[in-house]
Amino acid sequence: MMEAHESVEEEPEGSPPILRPVSRERVPLQKSSVCSRSYFMVVMVFFHVYIINVIALLFYVHYNNGSSRKEFSSSTQHKHNDFDRPESHEKFARTMHLPRIEGIRVGHVQKISLLNKVHEMRTLSLKPLLFEVPGFLSDEECRVVIQLARLKGLMESQVMVPEGQEDLAEQLNLSPEEIFNLLDLNQDNQLQPQEILTHSRVRDGIWLTPENLREIYAGLHADADGNGLLSLEEFRALSGDAFQRFLKRRGLKRSQMVRNSRHTWLYQGQGAHQVLQELRKRVTLLTRLPSELVELSEPLQVVRYEQGGHYHGHHDSGPVYPETICTHTRLAANSSSPFETSCRYITVLFYLNSVEGGGETTFPVADNRTYEELSLIQNDVDLLDTRKNCDKGNLRVKPTKGTAVFWYNYLSDGRGWVGEQDEYSLHGGCVVTSGTKWVANNWINVDPDYHRQARYQELVSQQQGQGAPDEPSDASSPRHMESHVEL
Ligand SMILES: *[C@@H]1O[C@H](CO)[C@@H](O)[C@H](O)[C@H]1NC(C)=O
Ligand SMILES: *[C@@H]1O[C@H](CO)[C@@H](O)[C@H](O)[C@H]1NC(C)=O
Repeated sequence: MMEAHESVEEEPEGSPPILRPVSRERVPLQKSSVCSRSYFMVVMVFFHVYIINVIALLFYVHYNNGSSRKEFSSSTQHKHNDFDRPESHEKFARTMHLPRIEGIRVGHVQKISLLNKVHEMRTLSLKPLLFEVPGFLSDEECRVVIQLARLKGLMESQVMVPEGQEDLAEQLNLSPEEIFNLLDLNQDNQLQPQEILTHSRVRDGIWLTPENLREIYAGLHADADGNGLLSLEEFRALSGDAFQRFLKRRGLKRSQMVRNSRHTWLYQGQGAHQVLQELRKRVTLLTRLPSELVELSEPLQVVRYEQGGHYHGHHDSGPVYPETICTHTRLAANSSSPFETSCRYITVLFYLNSVEGGGETTFPVADNRTYEELSLIQNDVDLLDTRKNCDKGNLRVKPTKGTAVFWYNYLSDGRGWVGEQDEYSLHGGCVVTSGTKWVANNWINVDPDYHRQARYQELVSQQQGQGAPDEPSDASSPRHMESHVEL
């Protein structure tokens, strides 16, 4: 699973190339050349030059840092800097930051105290930064959460065949050539099956496998020259949703969808069941994030997988482009964008029961040396396929009643805020081979653009200040409902 780091061979000290001719020449002349006085002198001179250089460098760095800091503070005083933030956001930037828990190393255990109970938190991987806390929920709490979810009623996590959904490609007005180029990751002017599979399956919830891709090619005569690749000409001959329509015509089973489960949402704010409110408090302590952030996040999602249920490999939240907007701050963003994602900084996953067979959470690329999207599907082995290949991933967590696992879906930006998506956070739910699996998810939503997060929090606090009643059921608010469908 983890490979040892290659040790980098270091240049032996004190053997700069210039020295070599000198010592070589001296070898035949003097037997004990290493002890000779001139050799010693040369070494000492180099040594001193080296030390002086290091000191000079340290001074340079120190001086430079000092002056740049001065420049920065003076420019913020005069409001000339590029960031040019309004006063309130300045305050926000200084008061809000996102602490990240240190993993130290895989297997490291740290004690954490949450509301009078001490738990052990074990590091499961560093890429993604992933932890496990056994006994986070008591048996009674698990029972209450399941009962509340049953009471509220669960719905299919995925609508079988969503109709009339506008395609992203249509929204962006892309030509077939442009789509072809986007799909052609390695730019060889051919579409390999991997390139098709990694990009087409998440859109409408149908899970394409290498086998049914071959079936589609045959059924649609899409691959005229029969080489298993699509050229631009072959691609152009297909309509945008040809694959999907073919599969729908042929008939689809639930097991052929990206996910096969039922879920519901439970509001955790004031007035909610004591267990749910306390759970949120403990999540705040666990993640060490500002409580406002946790409180403004999505409600608790409770999911039930029946026997045969699964959720193929996915990211809980998408990558961040300049145009990306977050579902939770859309109100404050004041714009719409086809690149919308739910900006889930952290996922906290609770196992509400111990599953009889299967149902593990898989992290196929956890702590892999490298991550390459195209390597996920090789020789017809698709690491994202949790019905077939859970055993081939790097890390699997067995569902154990009361255990919580949590991980970061984004890296840090190095300045205490959300950075890029952590691609290694890829995960899925292995097929349940026996029994039922109950889990719950708490996602902590943070906008990578902290001005927007600040504006959003201001808006919410203004609304609350005006005496607007707390949303009685956050769970049914449209923003959270929609936020989940596309993932
Ligand atoms: C949204 O945009 C409008 C017009 O572009 C502007 O007047 C308004 O102040 C903006 N609102 C926010 C919260 O930025
Ligand atoms: C995992 O790491 C290995 C070794 O670097 C690499 O060959 C492989 O492609 C990686 N897997 C993925 C999915 O990137």
